[in-house]
Amino acid sequence: MSRIDPQRRWCVFGGSGAVGRYLLPALGAAGVSVVALSRQPQPDSASGLQWVQGSLEDAPALQALIEAGARFEVICSLGPLDAFAAWLHRHPPARGVRVLALSSMSAEWKSDSPNPGERALARALIESEQRVLALCAAHAALATVLRCGLIHGAGVDRSLTPLLNWARRRPLPWPRAAIGLRQPVHARDLARALIVAAPRADLAQRVLALPGPEALSFPQMVQRSLAASGRAARVIPVPVPGLFRLASQLARLRGRAGSTAATLRRLYTDQLGTTGDWALLGIALDELGRVGGGESDQFQHR
Ligand SMILES: NC(=O)c1ccc[n+]([C@@H]2O[C@H](COP(=O)([O-])OP(=O)(O)OC[C@H]3O[C@@H](n4cnc5c(N)ncnc54)[C@H](OP(=O)(O)O)[C@@H]3O)[C@@H](O)[C@H]2O)c1
Repeated sequence: MSRIDPQRRWCVFGGSGAVGRYLLPALGAAGVSVVALSRQPQPDSASGLQWVQGSLEDAPALQALIEAGARFEVICSLGPLDAFAAWLHRHPPARGVRVLALSSMSAEWKSDSPNPGERALARALIESEQRVLALCAAHAALATVLRCGLIHGAGVDRSLTPLLNWARRRPLPWPRAAIGLRQPVHARDLARALIVAAPRADLAQRVLALPGPEALSFPQMVQRSLAASGRAARVIPVPVPGLFRLASQLARLRGRAGSTAATLRRLYTDQLGTTGDWALLGIALDELGRVGGGESDQFQHR
């Protein structure tokens, strides 16, 4: 991790999540002073790191720091973007402040989903992204939105990690045709992208797309991860004729049934994006972590 200016104080939201687990120690190691907000009590584990308790909706301890004169040169959102946009509305950034916010490639991928809930999510993501950019532009602050897809590597994601936990204990049956491709991105690489983007005023008012370096289906990710930890592949392909068509029909429904069907349906479809924005950050694709790639696939930093 390079190019970190220790003179710039960071405020980090969502720092207890996958990306924060790499970002906060890297900032601490570079001597950066960080205030991080969490709804849970957190130990101040990295030097220069001060956790304050509260939510994006209600953060009296952070408010007290701000009223006492705390100033942040970098404000970084690693949690829910809509809540962050609302926080930013209530706390307009000062001129020149760098604002970095993670968003999701779902803004693009779910925009034409048959499921009304997924389409609404895509619209909400785009609205939140635009709200952050517009708020910052109005106050001469410098915002960049970083969109990502499936995040791996920290062992806390809600898609690959549960499958791995299952497959480590027992065979994982999987619909044979559900081999839609994803581009998993390592949480550590997103932390690096944030650090690299922080001093880059030329990236202000931009939405970057940062999918991972290779396209894999979920069965491939599971098999690759298990093989890397010396375990036999335990994904059992099961023919389920008609499942995609049924899921496509049910996905049109509102509510939980429709959303579950939409999730199932997406397992059959590719969710891929272009990787060119990594080059914009000066990060080569072959430097990026791969699923089962030998480097830490589990959380290491705290
Ligand atoms: N995970 C993925 O595979 C994935 C895929 C695409 C895009 N993304 C995007 O990447 C970002 C991070 O995703 P993630 O899955 O790592 O995030 P996450 O686990 O959902 O959230 C990260 C952290 O945000 C904090 N948080 C949640 N709600 C909050 C609130 N109301 N107020 C304050 N803090 C709150 C939580 O910390 P505390 O519990 O400590 O408060 C949580 O650990 C999000 O913008 C997400 O849309 C993630």
